[in-house]
Amino acid sequence: MASSSTTFAIATLLFAALFAPAKSANQSSPGSFCPTALFTFADSLSDGGNRDIEEARFDNIGIPSLEFNGTEFVSLDFAYAGATVLQVENQPFSSPHIFSAQVDDFVRHQQTVVARNGREQSEPWYENALFYVEIGGDDINFALPLGTDTVINHTIPAVIQGIATLYNHGARHVLLFNMPRADCSPNYLQAFQQYPAGTFHYDNDGCIVEVGQLISYFNSNIQRLATELAQNYTGLNVYYSDWFAANTYVMENMNQYGFTNALQSCCGGGGKFNCNGDGLCGCAPLNEPNVTYTVCNDPSQYFTFDGIHYTQHFYQIMSDFIIAGQYLTPSVKLCKAVNEPEGPL
Ligand SMILES: *[C@@H]1O[C@H](CO)[C@@H](O)[C@H](O)[C@H]1NC(C)=O
Ligand SMILES: *[C@@H]1O[C@H](CO)[C@@H](O)[C@H](O)[C@H]1NC(C)=O
Ligand SMILES: *[C@@H]1O[C@H](CO)[C@@H](O)[C@H](O)[C@H]1NC(C)=O
Ligand SMILES: *[C@@H]1O[C@H](CO)[C@@H](O)[C@H](O)[C@H]1NC(C)=O
Ligand SMILES: *[C@@H]1O[C@H](CO)[C@@H](O)[C@H](O)[C@H]1NC(C)=O
Repeated sequence: MASSSTTFAIATLLFAALFAPAKSANQSSPGSFCPTALFTFADSLSDGGNRDIEEARFDNIGIPSLEFNGTEFVSLDFAYAGATVLQVENQPFSSPHIFSAQVDDFVRHQQTVVARNGREQSEPWYENALFYVEIGGDDINFALPLGTDTVINHTIPAVIQGIATLYNHGARHVLLFNMPRADCSPNYLQAFQQYPAGTFHYDNDGCIVEVGQLISYFNSNIQRLATELAQNYTGLNVYYSDWFAANTYVMENMNQYGFTNALQSCCGGGGKFNCNGDGLCGCAPLNEPNVTYTVCNDPSQYFTFDGIHYTQHFYQIMSDFIIAGQYLTPSVKLCKAVNEPEGPL
């Protein structure tokens, strides 16, 4: 996290560079989009087990990822670990910074920028920004194992509401993620072992069928609303990122990508999935206070770092897909915007 003053200084510089007047606006050619800024609305899946996902995803096209400086938002990353779409109660890992609260944080940030620079000056910064929305998975996670489509049916309208609010505040490019293969995450595979054999079923990849079905239902809703949003809101581009399909492809061809281990955590408390204790690596184990954790020698051979959050290597591959427009509907190639600050910062 951003703890050192060096990190803060870099974040400040990036912030200034990002919001300085651009000499040349957008250099996009048809089929490509060169965002000048990135705003993130997400849960902890946007922050890798051993590296920040936006960093891994976007540093090769030069879009800076800014940070929360520890006391207040100087950040353009509004994500929080445990963030849901709907407020949930009694979940130790949940966060009050739900999607609507993150959108509110963005609106406050924008008001400050507009007050300082004027509406006309500020508008293009938002119109040409990429709004990264990866949310809803925790609503499902926290509802497991008994979650039904009820939670999803309630979640979807609130996702629409949040994106509509972003649109009303100038967003025109939304990168909307579906949910990846949490049904194969070591932490869930471990947790679901407590149920009697036959309660849940496992597919050929070793993933939990019933969880996969729930995720697929969520994803089909997200895909549908991506299409509808783009139809209903003039000028809005919604790029649907089929993270589930990309994840499945890499899992089924993992050797080709240098992975040896999809279903075991790199860091964990031992056992079949290296997740004994049911706790995330580094967090207090929930059920077995005496579990000790070990970290694998080479995280790049693993899908997940801590049983839920993916490794840098995994994110790098997902990042390459996105930048190349793969698993994106409509497909768009992301490129680096020319955004030169005028004068001394
Ligand atoms: C975070 O940023 C705010 C606003 O610039 C500043 O007042 C505060 O001191 C910063 N906190 C840290 C820990 O750098
Ligand atoms: C680029 O700028 C043009 C004209 O200012 C605008 O119509 C278009 O939407 C912009 N393209 C992108 C991808 O932001
Ligand atoms: C969720 O919505 C779908 C489609 O409208 C509906 O078929 C289903 O019965 C709903 N589920 C619940 C639990 O309300
Ligand atoms: C889009 O508009 C249609 C028709 O008004 C409405 O039924 C649908 O719910 C809207 N969808 C979204 C995602 O806004
Ligand atoms: C954990 O270790 C302590 C000290 O060795 C022991 O007293 C306690 O019973 C252990 N707890 C469990 C749940 O195994």
